[in-house]
Amino acid sequence: MTTDATETSVTDEVVRSLRGTADPRLRELLTGLVRHLHAFARETRLTPKEWERAVAFLTATGQTCTGTRQEFILLSDVLGLSMLVETVHGDRAAGATESTVLGPFHMTQSPVRALGDSIDLVGGGEPCVVSGRVRSEDGAPLPGAVLDVWQADGEGFYDVQRPDTQPPGNGRGLFTADAEGRFRFRTCVPSPYPIPTDGPVGTLLRATGRHPYRPAHIHFIATADGHTPVTTHIFVAGSDHLDSDAVFAVKKNLVQDFDVTDDPALAREFGVPNPFRLARFDLVLERTA
Ligand code: BEZ
Ligand code: FE
Repeated sequence: MTTDATETSVTDEVVRSLRGTADPRLRELLTGLVRHLHAFARETRLTPKEWERAVAFLTATGQTCTGTRQEFILLSDVLGLSMLVETVHGDRAAGATESTVLGPFHMTQSPVRALGDSIDLVGGGEPCVVSGRVRSEDGAPLPGAVLDVWQADGEGFYDVQRPDTQPPGNGRGLFTADAEGRFRFRTCVPSPYPIPTDGPVGTLLRATGRHPYRPAHIHFIATADGHTPVTTHIFVAGSDHLDSDAVFAVKKNLVQDFDVTDDPALAREFGVPNPFRLARFDLVLERTA
């Protein structure tokens, strides 16, 4: 251990100090982190005052987290890191549904619901039916596949953000596909919404002149035996902000039509007022190797 560290010797010294890390993957990650962080400080000529400010920002980010608010995930999202990590590991079989970010609002257990149920416990939004099949990459239906679904209400808020106006579990549901892999649920058409801006991430967005909006979407985590789970969204075709998602999470294959449907018989069958919006798409899972 020397005391006269130079700009580069301190990096080597810290990296050497990690050699005893028993877990080889942890050693690799920490070594990479130290090398890149140090290179960042050298390249940008980071000043002690700036670093102090950054530490205050990270401290505020941690202090903003609660049981129902995850400001660190939000920070990772707006910096594009969540999407990059997804993309680095997002290779899928051709035709398999692509993944996208989890986001900070999948924090409560979704209530178990029957196929055809509504996840909109409040009402007031544009009625909508979402249906399709869960399939394997070769087209085979996946009976018993489980879909965890969550979305913001028609005003752009998740249940955990508005506990005074939304009951817990509003906009959420855990569905099990039928014997043909089919799923169906009722909801309201989601609207674009701003990510929370009343914390440090909002300060960052304002400082960089960025808007906080996400295009309208519904979240899914689909799981089935023998298949790799997928965490994804379905985006509403034509929504504002599809080209400038605040968290960089749009993939064009995930954009689906929510067709205006004027069909009284179908509306009766589905238990929704006529006309209604209908989104039909399949979720396709990759077989585990
Ligand atoms: C969401 O879609 O729930 C979300 C994703 C990333 C950041 C904020 C919200
Ligand atoms: Fe969302």
